[in-house]
This record gives sequence, structure tokens and C-alpha cells, in this order.
Amino acid sequence: MKLLVTGGAGFIGSAFVRLALAHNWAARLVILDKLTYAGNLENLAAIETDPRYRFVHGDICDLALLGKLLDDERPDAIVHCAAESHVDRSILGPGAFVETNVRGTFCLLEAARAAQTPRFLHVSTDEVYGSIEEPHAAHESFPLRPSSPYSASKAGSDLLALSYFSTFKTPVVITRASNNYGPYQFPEKLIPLMISNALEDLPLPIYGDGLQVRDWLFVDDHCRAIWAALNHGREGEIYNIGGSRALPNREVVSLILAQLGKPESLMTPVADRPGHDRRYAITSAKLAAASGWQAEVPFEQGIIRTIQWYRENRAWIDRVKSGEYQGYYQRNYGDR
Ligand code: NAD
Ligand code: DAU
Repeated sequence: MKLLVTGGAGFIGSAFVRLALAHNWAARLVILDKLTYAGNLENLAAIETDPRYRFVHGDICDLALLGKLLDDERPDAIVHCAAESHVDRSILGPGAFVETNVRGTFCLLEAARAAQTPRFLHVSTDEVYGSIEEPHAAHESFPLRPSSPYSASKAGSDLLALSYFSTFKTPVVITRASNNYGPYQFPEKLIPLMISNALEDLPLPIYGDGLQVRDWLFVDDHCRAIWAALNHGREGEIYNIGGSRALPNREVVSLILAQLGKPESLMTPVADRPGHDRRYAITSAKLAAASGWQAEVPFEQGIIRTIQWYRENRAWIDRVKSGEYQGYYQRNYGDR
């Protein structure tokens, strides 16, 4: 297969690219990435000399670039990971989220329609369902109730993608995954932020009471699920991808502190996130039935692998935390 992966220099995109090349999922693989603060070519160092791979620096909102790229490369499938992905940043500045997640996805759908790309895998999120009351778990027909500008922009892009299937028969498949964790995740998200702050004995900011529940999915399990949906998913359909490991935030942070041998007193309650979803829960039965996929990495193993990676890659953390990150950290946490 010849694949075009958007956002391939980010956390999930780069994990997908590493796996796709390691498992020979792709005979040729082209990445399109704008290299925002979250895009990092260091994430691709392991495969940069692979002759099957080409990197294109560009914006998914650039229709002319997309048209030329799809004409030149004629991929069998697009795996669309590019996005603005962090909820807190969407609260500080929603504009970029509408631009990339809604307009960028629209541009990519338009380009795929014109080029008649045979498959369009749109990577989305369980956050589009909003907070789910105990004891329920969202299936794919649950109503969309996004709470943040991030999740609203993802819900918008999902609806656009579905409309392209209904209207133009663009061969779209949508995946909606739960919270990912693993190596190379930008330290703005809960797990890498807590690990990197704890490594420096800095306070660990816990929003509100810290009892919000997230369902944790190791990033490679997510990537295998994307590959399963790409191959076995039906056009016009949505597939949830969960980790089946729901945990309150405080429990996750306690586990990290215990692994690092750091005191619980580093946990510092701070003002809650506005519009904070209390609980995410989804069922992945549909993808399991279609493809046999299931999560393979138990949280207890995945978190140890992740902590180990951050311990061994302090230089990577230091570089991504320099520059822009400092300003972001101040804006998000300065007044909390
Ligand atoms: P990330 O922020 O780590 O990476 C996003 C990548 O997209 C970066 O490389 C960035 O440079 C690139 N990008 C951003 N805007 C772009 C543009 N306009 N044009 C081209 N490239 C652009 O994000 P992630 O955590 O890897 O998430 C990837 C996808 O998975 C997103 O669609 C996100 O909504 C979805 N998702 C993430 C999670 C999670 O827990 N991280 C869970 C479910 C779904
Ligand atoms: O559910 C899938 C989504 O998971 C993805 O679509 C998003 O791209 C991804 O960012 C993630 O969203 P969350 O908002 O759930 O993840 P985040 O890591 O930002 O926060 C996880 C939980 O931890 C949430 O309840 C907020 C809390 N938190 C987060 C940070 C950054 C804190 O208590 N303190 C913090 O400093």
C-alpha cells in the first residue's frame, strides 16, 4: 500500500509511521506535516533514512499543495492524523482549532475527492461524545456533545467527513480513540507532563478534585487499530477505539510518582479546566467484531515503558520544553 499520513511528525502520526514501516504495511509512505509546536522531526529519526519514506513540509489547509501532492503520489489511502490536539490550548485560543481541524479536514476531503483517493481514514476522538454518565459507555451512534473548542472542532470534522461519504461517496472511515499515552507524547498532556515535572521535582498541577476519569490506550494499540479500521472498516462507518482501562487522574499520577520514587506531595490541586468533562467511556466492540482488534498492552506495562522512555530521553524533553512551551506553560498554569 502507498500511504499519505498527515500529522506524521506528531505523537500518534509518528508512532503509526514507525509501525507501518516496521511491519511493512506500506511500500511507500509520504508524510505531510506543518511542523507546528507539536510536530517534531526527531520523532521520525528512526526511519529518516528509509527509502520508502518521504517527508513533505506543508499545511493541510493549502489546497494547491494537496492537489499536487495527491496527483504526484496517488496514495491508496490517506491516514489523517494532523490536528490541533490539546484541549487547554483550545481554551486559550480556539481559532487554530477551527482552521486546522475543520477547514484543514475540509481541504483534505476536497483534495481526496478530486483525486479519487481509494480510502480516507479520519482519526478522531471519543471526546466528541462529551462526558458519559456512569455506568454507560458510548457506542458509535451516541449523540455528539462536545464540550471544548477542541472536541467541537473534531465533531465538526467528523460530520464533514461523513457528509462527503453520503454526498460524494468519498470512501471515508472514521476512528474515535480514547486517551493515548506512550513515548514521544508532547509534555502538555497529562501523563508526559506529570512524568517530566516529577523528574524535575516540579509541582504536578491537578485540575479540580482530580477524580475525572479517562480510558487509557497505549499509542501502538491505537495505531494497530487504525490499521485494522483502514483494512476492515466499512466506508461511511465510525469505529471507537478504547483502552478498556478507565482510571481517575489522581490514580494515574500516584502510579507515576510511585514508579519514580517521588512524594505524593508533588501533586498540587489547581483551578479546574473550564467545561471539564468528568468521565469518558466508550465501547470498541464494533471494531473488534469487524477486525478482531483488541488492545494488547495493559496499562501497568505501558506506563512503565512510557516512564522508562522519558527517563532515557531527557534531551528530547528538554528540547521540546524550551522556547514556545515556556510561554504556553505560563499562560495555562500561571494564574491557576
Ligand atoms: P499532536 O499534537 O501530537 O500532533 C499533531 C501533528 O499535526 C503535529 O505533527 C503537527 O505539526 C501536525 N499539524 C498540525 N496542524 C497541521 C496542519 N494545519 N497541517 C499539517 N500538519 C499539521 O497530536 P496527536 O496526539 O498525535 O493526535 C493525532 C490525532 O489523533 C488528532 O487528530 C487527535 O485529535 C487524535 N486523537 C488524539 C488522542 C490523544 O490522546 N492524543 C486521542 C484520540 C484521538
Ligand atoms: O479522549 C481523547 C482525547 O484525550 C484526545 O482527543 C485529545 O487529543 C487528548 O489531548 C486527550 O484529551 P484530555 O483532555 O482527556 O487529555 P489531557 O491529557 O489534556 O488531560 C487528561 C486529564 O487530566 C483531564 O481530565 C485533565 C487532567 N489534567 C490535564 C493536565 C494537562 C490535569 O489534571 N492537569 C493537567 O495539567
